[in-house]
Amino acid sequence: MHTVSTPTMAVLVVLGLLMAFMQVIDSSVGDHQTYTSYPPYVRGKNYIWVLNETDLSNSISYLGSHSRLRAAITKLKSGNKIKVATIGGSITAGQGAVDAPNWPQYLFNWLEDTYGKDIIEGSNGAVSGTLSAYMSVCLNMHITKDVDIVFVEYSVNDWHLPGGPPFQNEMRRSFERLLRKILTYPHKPAVILVHSYIWYQAYPVPGSFWNNAEREFNELALYYHLPSVSLKACCYQHLAAEVPGFEVKTPRYKDSAVLKYRSFYYDQMHPDGNTGARVIAEMAMHMIKTAEEWLQIRPMTDKEVANVALALPAPMIQGNREAMADKCFIGNSFTQTVILKQGFDWINEANGNPRPKWGFVATKEGSVLKLEVDTRASTQTGDTDEVLVEVAYLKSYENMGQAQVSCEAGCNCTPTTADGHQVERNSLLHLHNFYVTQAKECHIVVRVLPTTNSGKHKFKLAGIMISEEAGQKEGIKNNGAVEFVGDISLLSKDGKFDVKNQI
Ligand SMILES: *[C@@H]1O[C@H](CO)[C@@H](O)[C@H](O)[C@H]1NC(C)=O
Repeated sequence: MHTVSTPTMAVLVVLGLLMAFMQVIDSSVGDHQTYTSYPPYVRGKNYIWVLNETDLSNSISYLGSHSRLRAAITKLKSGNKIKVATIGGSITAGQGAVDAPNWPQYLFNWLEDTYGKDIIEGSNGAVSGTLSAYMSVCLNMHITKDVDIVFVEYSVNDWHLPGGPPFQNEMRRSFERLLRKILTYPHKPAVILVHSYIWYQAYPVPGSFWNNAEREFNELALYYHLPSVSLKACCYQHLAAEVPGFEVKTPRYKDSAVLKYRSFYYDQMHPDGNTGARVIAEMAMHMIKTAEEWLQIRPMTDKEVANVALALPAPMIQGNREAMADKCFIGNSFTQTVILKQGFDWINEANGNPRPKWGFVATKEGSVLKLEVDTRASTQTGDTDEVLVEVAYLKSYENMGQAQVSCEAGCNCTPTTADGHQVERNSLLHLHNFYVTQAKECHIVVRVLPTTNSGKHKFKLAGIMISEEAGQKEGIKNNGAVEFVGDISLLSKDGKFDVKNQI
């Protein structure tokens, strides 16, 4: 047995005193139910970060050459305006941010405060409850083609284990096509993956680290060199340790006042605006800041500028080419597909509802709406030549009739009937699905039939979507998103959907 020497004893006593003192500080923190590491959110040039340098560095799960991001920041630093967009599901749309900004808003605020309000144009095209299968088809409704930086958040909604072999399934295929579509936009935008993480949804038990689509998305990040930020790479240990501000044991809504600044999540799915959303935003902000710091050390060379303009490599998933033509026509863009209308009028049936309800409406049998769309598939799966077309039409309980949907000029389809009448007392868009052969100019005809289950002949159409893959059996299957996006997109000047216009 050895004895403790006097100097060591002295050190231990001092340490003990220090620890006692720290406990006093700790309990006072507890009394105020705030986490001192969450500095108040104040806008301005001197933003105070929640995350320290260790967390922020850990949040970058892939950086790579990030040439596109460097190009966008070079443009910004020379005083030119850049457009920054976010897309994703409900976390990005801002559910859970009930009394504080959502993460894209924190990001846009910081960009404006750091670089100047006049040269930053942020837009948030995310929609709750969407998968990349929806966003890939309807991307044209959500971001402008002259965008410079796009943050993509689908690691949670695109799930960990979709059916089928890895990558060769509809969910991963549509995610890759979404990335490819953005990457081919004219400004050669930087695509940045944002991997969020929901503690409670982790498979097979809450808190499992490897729970979502992130690791499969990582393959695409490596393949396309997409800078990526990861909530679990940053902060998983803080969540596991129940660090105040990162607590997961109780989502905030269960005791909203007491758990403010303590719980990371507002509910079982969504980060709280004060904590989780701010952390996600800081990861995105730090990505931009890191790229800017690198640029100061090593500016872009002509060779690097040339690299940005290079064509994309072949798809990582075999045959998985992106569609070149737009595939989603709702709101304003739906009106542009119409080549003939007899008895149909483009009208808003909001009836006092703050949300507009535009659509082509007919009330008489024999009314005709003829649409022209490009039904050529982009992929080469080769199982059949036909593509799935989804037409959004209103189902309601009064005055509604039936219409026949058929094809002429260029394409073929088996004529089908859509019935606008239902017994349930609600009025919502539904999707009428049918298969069409491929054609550049496919004419689809909707004709109101003499038959009816309500005694009347009203028929209303609000959009048309064409799948990108031939032989696809699923479609976007998301009539809720189609209705919401159609309504809200008509509140913006450019016909694009932005969360900030939502009512
Ligand atoms: C950042 O915070 C973490 C967690 O509190 C801590 O482990 C780490 O040492 C801190 N890093 C720095 C550079 O302060």
